[in-house]
Amino acid sequence: MSNNISNNERTSLQGLWSSRITFILAVTGSAIGLGNIWKFPYVAGDNGGGAFVLIYLICIFIIGFPIMVSEILIGRRGRRNPITSMKLLGEEETGNGSWKIVGFVGLLAGFLILSYYSVIAGWTMHYFVLSISGAFNEMNSEQVNFIFNELTGSITTQAIFHTLFMISTVIIIAKGIKNGLEKAVKLMMPALLIILFILLIYSVTQGDFTRGVEFLLKPDFSKITGDSILAAMGQAFFTLSLGMGCIVMYGAYLPNNESIVRTTVTIILCDTLIALLAGLVIFPIVFDNNLTPTEGPGLIFLTLPLAFADINGGLAFGALFFILLTFAAITSAISLLEPSVAWMIEQLNVSRKVSAIAIGFLIWSLGFLTILSFNDLADFTFWKGTIFDNFDYLSSNILLPISGMLFTIFASWFMTKSSSQSELNDISPIAYNIWRILAGVVAPIGVLIVFFNAINLF
Ligand code: PHE
Repeated sequence: MSNNISNNERTSLQGLWSSRITFILAVTGSAIGLGNIWKFPYVAGDNGGGAFVLIYLICIFIIGFPIMVSEILIGRRGRRNPITSMKLLGEEETGNGSWKIVGFVGLLAGFLILSYYSVIAGWTMHYFVLSISGAFNEMNSEQVNFIFNELTGSITTQAIFHTLFMISTVIIIAKGIKNGLEKAVKLMMPALLIILFILLIYSVTQGDFTRGVEFLLKPDFSKITGDSILAAMGQAFFTLSLGMGCIVMYGAYLPNNESIVRTTVTIILCDTLIALLAGLVIFPIVFDNNLTPTEGPGLIFLTLPLAFADINGGLAFGALFFILLTFAAITSAISLLEPSVAWMIEQLNVSRKVSAIAIGFLIWSLGFLTILSFNDLADFTFWKGTIFDNFDYLSSNILLPISGMLFTIFASWFMTKSSSQSELNDISPIAYNIWRILAGVVAPIGVLIVFFNAINLF
């Protein structure tokens, strides 16, 4: 495309992506992570399977899609971190800078999410080490269970890997957008996909594939409650990295002449494919080993080692899988950290390095509350469960949907039509209007219905 789609004249302070492909890779890297492979299967398992998955898919397409377009659009127009972009655009479009609060809510959610995300990514790194040392050789279900309990029982082991993971994330962020990030994603995402396909072959041939598929894809609506619908929506926000400003942030680095809508479609399809694949891999193994789908956050750590123990050459294979998952987690963690780091750089005028270390340190400290949720503080429960459970519930199911909804309301109702249309003018006027209806009416109403339903207002 030779002419610019957007007539935006503001430029990003942190540079731009080198091409459309790198933007797609970066956002896909943000979207695909522990949310697809660790979280999706266990949340689906906890919420009864098929009907949950159906609602999740509906949320992805009618809520997630328009909101992602809105967030990229806001980012590209604002060209700053999410808070400043909302302030600038709020002032420009409505004369009111308080819209920046939406950016704050998102950043807060990012803080909470990264604090536990890093701990779980640490588990993944630990499983990588265990796999190469041959620990899973010929193991049965009880032994795998024992190893997992040993890990979650140990504050030290979790702390070590949580620290390693946070340090890696901080280093990449400190180096800036182009050097670390772009190269990493290009290689790792396709590799992860290939391994998932190989694991799928294992599940089809060795696992209880029929029961697995039935559980995942056959809707049983009797299992659906207000809270499980909320969980499905929360998962849709979480997996697409919506509502916390990282998509706004990445949009700020998107060149003017790239199509937002086409890019979004690609990203969403990749993310959904990976989550479904992960489910198709995990559940046949669950049923084949007489495990239950409701194992909670330990689900993949209790099932996948069994597959690796069973496959010829599974050791190398397991190691490869866990290292790739760690990388997938890093490309998401970076996107969780980048908005607050960019905010600190632009606001307080400190260097990228200082800002990455300071914020990384805060989040790292917060992570200890999650580590303790699995051992010393496991009995300290309130509201939705342990501290970890509450962090997760509050951020995914409440904060992300609220700020995602406000981002999309802003883009569709408060931005002038000429501004939003100039960001989306590669699509036909009809398509543009469809986006406005989805973003301004369907998505916000959807979010509200799910909220009210969860607090039993209906
Ligand atoms: N989408 C990421 C995943 O699925 C997690 C994430 C959530 C990243 C919110 C950024 C913002 O793993």
